Amino acid sequence: MLVTLEGIDGSGKTTTISSLQEVYPNAVYTLEPTDSWYGDAVRNSINVNNADPLAELFLYMADHAYHLQTTVIPALDDGKLVISDRYIDSRYAYQSASLDGIIEDPLSYIEKIHQPWTILPDLTLYFDIPPELGAQRSGSTNKFEQTSFLEKVHENYEKIISKHPHRFIRIDATLPPKDMTQIAIKSIANSL
Ligand code: TYD
Repeated sequence: MLVTLEGIDGSGKTTTISSLQEVYPNAVYTLEPTDSWYGDAVRNSINVNNADPLAELFLYMADHAYHLQTTVIPALDDGKLVISDRYIDSRYAYQSASLDGIIEDPLSYIEKIHQPWTILPDLTLYFDIPPELGAQRSGSTNKFEQTSFLEKVHENYEKIISKHPHRFIRIDATLPPKDMTQIAIKSIANSL
């Protein structure tokens, strides 16, 4: 089973993942951007304010293809529970925001170019936090961590959830970390 954790910057996914590791020690924990040269390319681009958003989409997609082939597919084939900190919906939400006004209906386009080769998650835990708080918690250190950008990303996550309501569980990311972890554990247990 493939479980993904999604949310805007500063939503506290990473804290929940550390707690999940105690409950599901045999799961495969992974993340996007990956720790590979593809992931490094993406991380370099995040710090370039005028990076081309279309080039950035394809860098993230290359990293996703690498992630699928090297980690996700082999682990799923082994019957493992796979838990990924960010996955396909990060592209849908973030790159739809950065491509807004550059290409028509970016969300549909990004979904269409992933669809022939990706694997959709069985369950996505969406950590919901107001954009101002996310920007504040993340420290606003790069172009993505700005309130105005995170507002668009937040809206895009809402669009995706309304398109695929059965795949998502919404977690209020203003709750104490212990409560968020409890909800995450229950949601995963119910889907196993
Ligand atoms: P990440 O390292 O997960 O940041 P954080 O730990 O702060 O959540 O992700 C780095 C940034 O890359 C983050 O701002 C989200 C963005 N991102 C995209 O824009 N598209 C993507 O496909 C992915 C995976 C991440």
